[in-house]
Amino acid sequence: MQKIAVCVSGGGTNLQAIIDAVHSGKIDNTQIAVVISNKADAYALERANNAGIPALCISPKEYENRSAFGEAMVDALHKYNIDLVVLAGYLVIVPSEMIAAYPNKIINIHPSLIPAHCGMGYYGLKVHESVLACGNKITGATVHFVDEKADHGPIILQKAVEVKNGDTPEILQRRVMEQAEWNILPEAIDLIGAGKVSVQNGIAVVSR
Ligand code: GRF
Repeated sequence: MQKIAVCVSGGGTNLQAIIDAVHSGKIDNTQIAVVISNKADAYALERANNAGIPALCISPKEYENRSAFGEAMVDALHKYNIDLVVLAGYLVIVPSEMIAAYPNKIINIHPSLIPAHCGMGYYGLKVHESVLACGNKITGATVHFVDEKADHGPIILQKAVEVKNGDTPEILQRRVMEQAEWNILPEAIDLIGAGKVSVQNGIAVVSR
């Protein structure tokens, strides 16, 4: 059984999709050992509590500097014997201490087809506003391993989603979540738990 930590900042619908996939057996090799939020009032923490999962708040603001925050995160992950860290709507740049301690063992979900509409400043509705402003007809979501750069690192899974006439950023965000994010994030966790994802020369190779 792989043990995962899910890091969150907000509503936690992606966390809920993971919890539901574990309960339904869609993910059958993984235990959600802890949920960590950088915000004490994130609704995602309530979702964790409702599911009986240990939930913590570790805020960068409570630490003297980034490296002290990074060490606190790594300590918490070690305490729960974490194999894989899942960033599910986590709006914090991952501290380098964490990346060094968990190389190719941290994954992130981004609501676009990377390398489009990603990087610093592309989060939440801003991603979907950018897709609509470009007139893209297709968008989607990406699960990737995390490295030092924002929304960068070997791509594990992607799913395309249609952009429709009359879409608002909110409508498009919802469609991307329903059709892509809530499916490919649990799927990636299950594939990694089954040992079906490796990184070769900077590229993630998935065998099914
Ligand atoms: C999702 O769109 C995710 O891709 C992005 O932030 C949003 C978080 O939503 N990184 P939720 O907190 O999982 O509901």
